Amino acid sequence: MSAKRIAVLVSGGGTNLQALIDAQHRGEIVNGEIAAVIASKPGAYALERAAKAGIPGYVVARKDYPSNQAMTIALVDKLTSLGIDLVVLAGFMVILTEEMVRSYPNAILNVHPALIPSFCGAGYYGLHVHEKALEYGVKVSGATVHFVSEECDGGPIVLQKAVAVEEGDTPEALQRRIMEQAEWVILPRAVSLFCQGRLKVEGRTVRILKPLNLSKECLQ
Ligand code: GAR
Repeated sequence: MSAKRIAVLVSGGGTNLQALIDAQHRGEIVNGEIAAVIASKPGAYALERAAKAGIPGYVVARKDYPSNQAMTIALVDKLTSLGIDLVVLAGFMVILTEEMVRSYPNAILNVHPALIPSFCGAGYYGLHVHEKALEYGVKVSGATVHFVSEECDGGPIVLQKAVAVEEGDTPEALQRRIMEQAEWVILPRAVSLFCQGRLKVEGRTVRILKPLNLSKECLQ
């Protein structure tokens, strides 16, 4: 199986991108390579992280297009011209339209900072997610990596990890703990599983297949 070419789409700081870069340096993205970082904003700090790691960075800015649909079409053109196999939304704050999902069916992963189906959907992004979770009074939150479908935050779930809410948590403190303990762990893991061909989507369920174990007998 040839190595999968990964594009990471970002809008801001890019700590999840950094977790992917670090995992790649440790050899933990098996059969995959981050081939491009694409930002929706020209000044996104994530582009500096990409440059430091020697990964080509591109900007497809929301402000340069009249609608989310026009921007999505431009993104699909860019991704196909780069020969991308897997699209990773890592803190990407633009809602993509159906053209993206049709071009990359079950080949777009998103990281969301809550346990879907809680605190997700339109309006739930970044710090707002943690504000809502604290307002509601939950004792546990966490993160989810899921395939992107045409429903916002509604695609099949790949991995989830729970994180305890602590007494006196602010949205910022909860956000940081969820990033450290959940997002930066499960996003690289999900990307590596995809690149190894180990994610099988069956309706709403994603099965994680065992690694291919080619023993000597099999190879003879
Ligand atoms: C992350 O917490 C990510 O899960 C969230 O935005 C933050 C981006 O941080 N994404 C969403 O809310 C998408 N719905 P980062 O730029 O440092 O990775």
